[in-house]
Amino acid sequence: MADLKERTFIAIKPDGVQRGIIGEVIKRFEAKGFKLVGMKMLSASQDLLQQHYIDLKARPFFPTLIAYMSSGPVVAMVWEGKGVVKTGRVMLGETNPADSKPGTIRGDFCIDVGKNIIHGSDSVESANKEIALWFKPDELVCYTSCAYDWLY
Ligand SMILES: Nc1ncnc2c1ncn2[C@@H]1O[C@H](COP(=O)(O)OP(=O)(O)OP(=O)(O)O)[C@@H](O)[C@H]1O
Ligand SMILES: [Mg+2]
Repeated sequence: MADLKERTFIAIKPDGVQRGIIGEVIKRFEAKGFKLVGMKMLSASQDLLQQHYIDLKARPFFPTLIAYMSSGPVVAMVWEGKGVVKTGRVMLGETNPADSKPGTIRGDFCIDVGKNIIHGSDSVESANKEIALWFKPDELVCYTSCAYDWLY
C-alpha cells in the first residue's frame, strides 16, 4: 500500500528567500495536495550545512556551495503525502535550471546551477536523514494518526 505519510525535506535556499519565492513554493506544494508538517526559518550553521551536503564533500564546488547556503536565512520545511519525495523532485526540476522544464520551480525562477533557489530530498532514505538533521521530533506535527479528519 502506498505510504500516505511519506515525508520529504524541502529547503528554500538563501537566494530563494531573498527573491521572495517562499509563498510561491508553499502554494505549489499545498495546491498539489501535500501537507506541511514542519517549517522554520534559520541561518544554518556551517556544521549543519556540511552535514547536510556530506555526500558532496569531495566535489570542487563544495566550499562555494557551503558559502552560498550560508549567505542568508533558509526556510526549512517537511512536506508529507503519497509519493512526496519523487513528486517533490519533479516539481523542483533538474539540478541545473538550464535543464529544468518551464512549470518546474527551478525552470520558472532561476538560471544558475550555483543559485538554484531550492533543495529537495532525492530519496526516502535521504529524506529521513535530512528531516532528523534539521528538525527535532516535537517540531513536526502529525495528521493521519491523530484525531483530525483529512481527505487523504
Ligand atoms: N556544478 C556545480 N556547480 C555549482 N554548484 C553545484 C554544482 N552541482 C551542484 N551544485 C550545487 O549543489 C547542490 C547539491 O547538488 P546535488 O547534486 O545534490 O543536486 P540536487 O539534489 O538537485 O540539489 P539539492 O540537493 O540542493 O536539492 C545543487 O542544488 C547546487 O546548489
Ligand atoms: Mg541533492
